[in-house]
Amino acid sequence: MRRKFIAGNWKMNGSLAANAILLNGLKAEIGRPACAVAVCVPAPYLAQCREELTGSPVAWGGQDVSVHESGAYTGEVSGAMLADFGSRYVIVGHSERRTYHGESNELVAQKTVSALKAGLIPIVCVGESLAEREAGRTDAVVGAQIDAVLSMLDVGDVGKIVIAYEPVWAIGTGKTATPQMAQDVHAMLRSRLAMKNADAAETVQILYGGSMKPDNARDLLAMPDIDGGLIGGAALKAADFLAIIKAA
Ligand code: PGA
Repeated sequence: MRRKFIAGNWKMNGSLAANAILLNGLKAEIGRPACAVAVCVPAPYLAQCREELTGSPVAWGGQDVSVHESGAYTGEVSGAMLADFGSRYVIVGHSERRTYHGESNELVAQKTVSALKAGLIPIVCVGESLAEREAGRTDAVVGAQIDAVLSMLDVGDVGKIVIAYEPVWAIGTGKTATPQMAQDVHAMLRSRLAMKNADAAETVQILYGGSMKPDNARDLLAMPDIDGGLIGGAALKAADFLAIIKAA
């Protein structure tokens, strides 16, 4: 049985004051969750997460990682730096980075490797645009995204990643994939994993992301291949995030 995993993606939101309210709200109410929980935060707030969350059931991590280990790469943050602040996870290949920062499938694959080298668990994001879905290209697009990553991984490392299927048209739009639409893509992703490492395919958590909210989480999480959620907007309010954690 795969343990469910609910991860928050704060994106470029937060302040010391607002984060303190959010994190204290989480800590006060989370109890002993049945699922794994994490927040992925802007890099300047990793120290605050370490301070506030150490000893709690909530892990933390970054939202991007450099492919380089160190050196003259202004503005980049290395995997070792994320790990230095106690990060357990890092998001790689979010569609906002693919779209606004031109990240290719190959770069996302390199970032996945870079995260693993630093001992982090990469949350690898994949997903199709609305035009791609309407053209019947979902499996081709998402399949190519995951295959690029798998082609760069050692067989033994396949089980060390988390995947997040995030249809681009559902992110921040209030539109959600139906549970069956998401399940179909998750099953396809798991079969791609199985081609590389059948045992790992059974254990890798595949999250759904894209307007997951307290009122739709339960139905999505009931699908056999949906192992959790990557939550944007609803992760910024303790009550909403906690309700999704409860649903899991
Ligand atoms: P959303 O974002 O929940 O606000 O749609 C999800 C994500 O982009 O990770």
